[in-house]
Amino acid sequence: MCGIVGYVGEQDAADVLVDALSKLEYRGYDSAGIAVFEDGEIKVEKCQGRLDNLRKKMEEVGKPEGCVGIGHTRWATHGEPSDINSHPHGNKRVTIVHNGIIENYKEVKEFLVGKGYEFVSETDTETVAKLLDYYYDGNPVDTIIKVVSEITGSYALGIMFADYPEHVYAVRKDSPMLIGVGKGENFLGSDVTAFLKYTKDYYLIEQDEICDITANAIKIVDIHKNPIKKELQTATWDVNAAEKGGYAHFMLKEIHEQSNAVKMTISPRVKDGMPDFSETGMTKEELASFRQIYIVACGTAMHAGMVGKYVIEKLARTSVIVDIASEFRYRDPLIGEGDLLIVISQSGETADTKAALALGKERGAKTLAIVNVVGSSIAREADMVLYTNAGPEISVASTKAYSVQIAAMYLFAFELAYVKKAISEDECRKYVKELLEIPDYITHTLDVKKDCQQVASKLLNADSLLYIGRGLDYALSMEGSLKLKEISYIHSESYAAGELKHGTISLITEHMPVIAVATQKALIEKTVSNIKEVKARGAKVYLVCGESLQLEEGIADAIIRIPEVDEILMPTLCAIPLQLIAYYTSVLRGNDVDKPRNLAKSVTVE
Ligand code: M6R
Repeated sequence: MCGIVGYVGEQDAADVLVDALSKLEYRGYDSAGIAVFEDGEIKVEKCQGRLDNLRKKMEEVGKPEGCVGIGHTRWATHGEPSDINSHPHGNKRVTIVHNGIIENYKEVKEFLVGKGYEFVSETDTETVAKLLDYYYDGNPVDTIIKVVSEITGSYALGIMFADYPEHVYAVRKDSPMLIGVGKGENFLGSDVTAFLKYTKDYYLIEQDEICDITANAIKIVDIHKNPIKKELQTATWDVNAAEKGGYAHFMLKEIHEQSNAVKMTISPRVKDGMPDFSETGMTKEELASFRQIYIVACGTAMHAGMVGKYVIEKLARTSVIVDIASEFRYRDPLIGEGDLLIVISQSGETADTKAALALGKERGAKTLAIVNVVGSSIAREADMVLYTNAGPEISVASTKAYSVQIAAMYLFAFELAYVKKAISEDECRKYVKELLEIPDYITHTLDVKKDCQQVASKLLNADSLLYIGRGLDYALSMEGSLKLKEISYIHSESYAAGELKHGTISLITEHMPVIAVATQKALIEKTVSNIKEVKARGAKVYLVCGESLQLEEGIADAIIRIPEVDEILMPTLCAIPLQLIAYYTSVLRGNDVDKPRNLAKSVTVE
């Protein structure tokens, strides 16, 4: 999704802004631009395409010279990616960058056209720029207040008024924005990675707070102009964590970071060998009392929820409904008082997950957010929060965030099973001990890289493939399939292996490779039968299974064997070959692994 940056200080603003925008590239974008005060005038440079296009353009025409400015990476929503639709938008008096969607932009536009304004772009953003111009009375804060009371939808806005060349203004609603606090310089950023290189200190801007930022002062007021005092936050993320550190891609680096990320997520939540969720404020009695658990999320995070469902139901004997957030929010779910809603999100800003959370709260359910980004909207809005300490995940394809989400789900399941007396204390300790050992096993599992590369070389030219598994292996296959689709652009589907005969097996030919996952002992024989069925119909089969599994000769065309742990924990290891197969297939196809087409890292609009 779009990224906003801003700078006020003594450095070359264009350089800082482009550098900061490069840190937000991972969010996904199709055009970029900056506006800088040059000799008291707002100068804009923007164009379609990657930041490199903007850099080249500025090399040719000269970059705007000054120390104050705003910048933007756009992910098109209203109007195609083009130079004209790129941000900033505005005129010589007021210029803005915007994230989000202005829902009533048509009405606003009509109003402004009636007042004689002409529009050049197809964006909703231009209406806000013109409305600011229309209401501008010499006082930026008053003007912003007037405008935000007339627009609906979601927005984070970075604003420059020509009369105030030492100031950048900001306001947000339902779209995140932070102020980076430096020494003699201050920043704006859609997330901390934008300014992490310059400062780790920041303020979180809350709904409809209006910020007036200069090099040495930050003034924040609410919609009634009451001054707001903020608590300074300090990012725990290391600046190197947001760099590739010698890896070819962020995705590969993040796959390698999983061992540590899982350790950082689990270790702080284990006290004396037992799960400890006291940081959430939830008592054991309360946890044991929930009638129904809902897990709601999108994409990979929803797949982590699927693993959570299997594990919670198996160990804690408590019913879990997993739902896609965009479905949950509109299907009038039966959730209510006495239920627990768990929302899972890496970014903590996913629009549908946020809406699902709001609905759960409205209906009286208790809400727990499992979130990676500290201080994100979902983390702040939920009743309880459990941070997955994975550090920044830059690659659009989620890998380490998935592993920490399932690790958190396991620990939660153990605790729930224990407080509900579905497992004994000894059993709980045993599970926790095994989970604490998983980081080391993850490191060993990375040895399968070569095997995965070979499988990837076989998938390279496939048009479509199937992932099959049963039970937890099926839950995991969903994630394997999504990973492959999103970065290799090869169609794939995950199927419960036992369901193939009910229709899908008709697709099987020698041109439809099958990736089978078989780690669940009680189900292995069944899955092997399904493998034989697809093999008999010509499919090439690539099997992921435990290292000691005895198999008939020729059962699969390639077998990727991974270390064995308690079968309930196998998804924590099995995820790795599936991620690597997707990664290498994407590399071999020459794709932009970290920034797949059409995708954004954090989906902050519906
Ligand atoms: O930030 P979130 O975890 O809420 O994001 C949810 C999905 O958009 C995300 O997991 C997406 O499916 C991944 N990019 C897939 O790799």
